[in-house]
Amino acid sequence: MHGKVSSGRRSPIRLFHLSDIHFGLEDRRALDWAEACIARERPDAVAITGDLTMRARHGEFRAACEWITGLDVPVTVEIGNHDMPYFNLFERFFAPFRRFRAIKRMVDAEIDLERLAIVPLQTATRAQWQRFPWSNGWVTDRALADCLAAIDAHPKDTRILVAAHHPLTERRERDGKLLTINGTKAMEALAGRQVMAVLSGHIHDPFDLTADTAAGPLRMIGAGTLSRRIRSTPPSFNEIVIDGDVLRVEARNLDQVPTPEMQIPDVPENAMPPRGTGEPVSPVGAVPPVDPPVH
Ligand SMILES: [Fe+2]
Ligand SMILES: [Fe+2]
Repeated sequence: MHGKVSSGRRSPIRLFHLSDIHFGLEDRRALDWAEACIARERPDAVAITGDLTMRARHGEFRAACEWITGLDVPVTVEIGNHDMPYFNLFERFFAPFRRFRAIKRMVDAEIDLERLAIVPLQTATRAQWQRFPWSNGWVTDRALADCLAAIDAHPKDTRILVAAHHPLTERRERDGKLLTINGTKAMEALAGRQVMAVLSGHIHDPFDLTADTAAGPLRMIGAGTLSRRIRSTPPSFNEIVIDGDVLRVEARNLDQVPTPEMQIPDVPENAMPPRGTGEPVSPVGAVPPVDPPVH
């Protein structure tokens, strides 16, 4: 339900932004803690920005769906590149979202709160003719049109957050490597509509950056991971408080690392631990000595 215009003082809205749980390689301690925080603090909504599973196996989805349906608050779930059937190519192409059916109503679901909406933007695709592998993002014209139509359906004073799996940065700054196809166009369209922030995952380190687009600034908020696939920060999730037109982010974690030490200064290519020079690393620098397992 859309909120009505009113000049009265409203209470802040509190969201938990979780990402990259990767059931199959989840961090049990971090996940139990996040679940307890949700049960105790009851945020207005939980946005999960994709990569629920490691390899989209049936057992991993079962665990993910069970965990998510146990959360007694409004939840929206984005699909990540790890959530596409990996071993079964027939299913990947013809029924890529079948394994989500237990949480179907939450997948790509819009959440409407008081004068604030969380609008989904799909960035994970079942195949990309432009390149292989298909792990990075692609904002198709259709996905962008759906997102913009959903935004435009709201009254002008509605604050909009967009939830996507991949950060929308189109090219890596240091060498121009292609990250999210059509990212620049999407960011300009969202900035032009005064979107408050784009929430994303995929990177496994938190960030809170503002991009300059041809249509104005666009805030990009990334959540860390609740899995054992660590990049340069301990497991975390974002607490986001929206008070009027002010949005604050805290990267909460079990190690009590302050938020500025958790956030990376730029968007890297992927969630692999930074090994080369020039790769963004968080100040806490919790880079694992060996790359996390991929199974
Ligand atoms: Fe991930
Ligand atoms: Fe991902």
